[in-house]
Amino acid sequence: MTRLDKMASHYKVINETDYSDSFGERDAFALDVLVGLSETQKAIPSKYLYDARGSELFRDITRLPEYYPTNCELEILENRGSALADFVADKAFNLVELGAGFGRKTQILIRRFAESGLDFRYVPIDISESAMAGLVNQLNGDHPSVECEGLVSDYFNGLKWLNNRDDRLNFVLFLGSSIGNFSHSESRVFLRNMWNCLNHGDLVLIGFDLKKDIELLLHAYNDKQGVTAAFNLNLLDRINSELGGHFDKAKFRHFGTYDVNSGGMESYIVSLERQTVYIDMIGRSFTFRPWEPIHTEYSYKYLIAEIEDLAAETGFSVATHYFDSRRYFADSVWRVDKPRPSR
Ligand code: AVJ
Repeated sequence: MTRLDKMASHYKVINETDYSDSFGERDAFALDVLVGLSETQKAIPSKYLYDARGSELFRDITRLPEYYPTNCELEILENRGSALADFVADKAFNLVELGAGFGRKTQILIRRFAESGLDFRYVPIDISESAMAGLVNQLNGDHPSVECEGLVSDYFNGLKWLNNRDDRLNFVLFLGSSIGNFSHSESRVFLRNMWNCLNHGDLVLIGFDLKKDIELLLHAYNDKQGVTAAFNLNLLDRINSELGGHFDKAKFRHFGTYDVNSGGMESYIVSLERQTVYIDMIGRSFTFRPWEPIHTEYSYKYLIAEIEDLAAETGFSVATHYFDSRRYFADSVWRVDKPRPSR
C-alpha cells in the first residue's frame, strides 16, 4: 500500500440496510406523515425538516444574529481545541463524529488536532451515502494528510463495527445541540445505547444549549428575517414535492414557543383557517381546524445540574464543561465508565 492509498479518505457502507433506496425513504416519509397528521395533536418528526432545501435553510439560520448556538460552539472549540487535544494526546484514537460533520466546527478540531501532531483518524458516521461522499471528498481536499474513514450506517451499528475492528480509544463528537431534539427519556436511551457501543475510558464531547433568558430563546427561534419560519414551512413544500401534497404555505404560519415546564423550545406549523388538504401518495385528505398546530420540533435546553444527572444516569463521568464567554452553551466532555468485569 502506498502512503497515499493509506491516507486517502474513503467510506464504507456498514450494514445490509440500503438507506439510499429512495422508494423506501419516500414510503417511510409517507407513513410518518400519515400517522402524524392522523393524531389528535398533529406532529411530524423533526428529521424530515432536513431535505436539501431544509439543510440549506438551517445553514442560513446558523448565520443569523439571533441564532447564538452555532457561534457559541465555534467560540468554545476555537478556545478549547488545545485543551481537548490534551485529553487524547498520548495515544492513537478515532475522532468519531455522529451526524453530518465537517462543518466549520469539525474543521476547527481537525485542524487543531492535526497541528498538535495527534495520531488520529477521522470517522464520520452518517446514514446518508451522498452526504458522506461529499464530506469525505471535501476532507480529502482540505486535509489530505488526515486519514478519514467514513461509515455509512446508523450511529450504533457504526460504533459497534468500529469497536469490533480496533481497540483504539474513541473520541465521539455529538455537536450542535443535536441532543436537544430528543426528549429527556429519549436522550437517556440514546446515551445508554452509545455507552453500550463504547469501551471504558472512551470520550464523548456533547453540545448542550443552556437554559437562559426566555426572550433570547424566543428571538433565536423566531428570527426577524423569517429564516426559521421558512425552514419550518419548507416541510410543507417537501410533502408537496415528494408525496404529492397540496399544501398552500400562505395558509399556515410558523410558531416557536418555549415550554417553561419541560425546558424545551417547540416549533409548530399553525393552520390559519379551516382547510382540507389532499396528499396524492397517501390517497387521502387531512382537515385542519382554524389555528390548529402541527408540531415539528423540540429543542430542549439544559442546566449544568441536568447535564450532570444525565451523564450519571447513563454511565458516564463528567470530565469537564467548556463554556462560551456568555455562558449560553456548553460543550461537555464525558468519559465512559464501565465496571471492571467481576470474576
Ligand atoms: C440543529 C437541532 C440543533 O434545535 O437549535 C434551529 C435546529 N430549529 N432553529 C436547534 C433548529 C430551528 C437546531 N438543531
